[in-house]
Amino acid sequence: MAKPSLKNESKIAQAVRHSFTLTDNETGQSWEFPTLHGTIGPKVIDTRKLYSQTGVFTYDPGFASTASCTSDITYIDGDAGVLLHRGYAIDDLAKNTDYTDVCYLLLHGELPSPENKLEFDAEINQHTMLHEQLARFYSGFMRSAHPMAIMVGVVGALSAFYHDSTDITDPMQRMRAAHRLIAKMPTIGAYAYKYSLGQPFPQPSNKLTYSENLLRLMFSVPTTDYEINPVLARAMNQILILHADHEQNASTSTVRLAGSSAANPFACVAAGIASLWGPAHGGANEAVLNMLTEISTKDRIDKYIKKAQDPDDKFRLMGFGHRVYKNYDPRAEVLRNTCHEVLDELGIHDPTLDLAMELERIALSNDYFKEKRLYPNVDFYSGIILRALNFPTNMFTVLFAIGRTVGWIAHWKEMMESSESRIGRPRQLYTGSTKREFTSVANREHTDRKISWSWLWGGKKNGS
Ligand code: CMC
Repeated sequence: MAKPSLKNESKIAQAVRHSFTLTDNETGQSWEFPTLHGTIGPKVIDTRKLYSQTGVFTYDPGFASTASCTSDITYIDGDAGVLLHRGYAIDDLAKNTDYTDVCYLLLHGELPSPENKLEFDAEINQHTMLHEQLARFYSGFMRSAHPMAIMVGVVGALSAFYHDSTDITDPMQRMRAAHRLIAKMPTIGAYAYKYSLGQPFPQPSNKLTYSENLLRLMFSVPTTDYEINPVLARAMNQILILHADHEQNASTSTVRLAGSSAANPFACVAAGIASLWGPAHGGANEAVLNMLTEISTKDRIDKYIKKAQDPDDKFRLMGFGHRVYKNYDPRAEVLRNTCHEVLDELGIHDPTLDLAMELERIALSNDYFKEKRLYPNVDFYSGIILRALNFPTNMFTVLFAIGRTVGWIAHWKEMMESSESRIGRPRQLYTGSTKREFTSVANREHTDRKISWSWLWGGKKNGS
């Protein structure tokens, strides 16, 4: 990989102020480790030389106490329920900007001037179409395929088409890849839906905003004119903004890890989509709706609240809890209001929303949820809005992926420009057999192999 610019180096050097002392109680030996200070947020202990100096590793499955990189993009204070993109509060952005403003902000660090905005939107519009051969890929999938399965495949395949944006050492090519990904995701996602219906693929329209174009790609048919409903377009815009980035979450960390080996950006983003798909991450919006359908009536809520608290029951209240937020997720607060606005303006009375509000009320006053500080997260309300917008449940995570693409690519780009970047290569605490003698097949004993999935909510006591 080419040596990236030294952009972040001086920032960290200036930030060193205090140190932490680590003492081995057995030998009495001590080592000093510097602390690093960001612009806001807790300081971190710089353990980069820990192993070379002490011969020990840290053990932190799930990275709950580990900063894997420095970043200028997004700041979260989970205790206070604060989320800032490049310093701007998420609710300000969600209420006052449009999605491509936020894309520009995440990629370039500043909100665009009117000229920047015109130029950026024109650049994105240039890349919204899909190569005809790529569009033919869809016919290789089952009509019943989950759209996220199609997304992983088609986005991965972009690297087979756009060779003029896979040289990661060229800043121009990196930016072109970023623009292509942002521009093509609505088309790729909408075609997955159209394919499932057997409807023709519409072409994107450059006259429309990003959100309007997405709605038109999804819902227009060639036989009638598609009228954009401004209420729906505004809600779509907000949903995209609220999903645009969330610092080092599982999918973004996946993109960074894939990119750390110098893989091309299309392959890295395909890896991010795969990571997002799981119900503990982006798949939760789909899971919330499925859960509400299963609960079905308010009188059954107590039963599900009890199930969620039972350590021997793998059921979790979907759309509740977050690794970082130990307070209301600020994205959920914005969406809660949007949800009411959308349903009111469309004149929809959705009993699912009543059920969700009652579930939220009961959970928030329940001791288990209070003690564990489990609050509604972004996925709790987004599903209800997306349903009002007419999206089928299995497209919810696709919409999350479309919104998050800019976050993935902004982090990938930041990593490529940082002098700190090294191949991601965690270590482990080995708990397997020590060295033993090889036995030939005839002399081996039969063993019953039982597969254990207990780590994945097999009992809440074993939760990740
Ligand atoms: N329902 C019931 N109990 C829960 C829940 C829940 N939704 N979430 C966490 N807990 C319990 C968990 O059982 C554990 O209990 P104990 O301490 O007794 O073992 C404790 O709370 C801590 O949970 P954890 O699994 O150790 O926390 P985590 O930080 O590893 O997991 C999470 C975070 C989001 C995966 C988890 O809260 C969860 O599974 N929530 C439901 C799925 C969901 O809504 N995901 C969307 C996340 S937001 C969108 C995004 O950014 O992707």
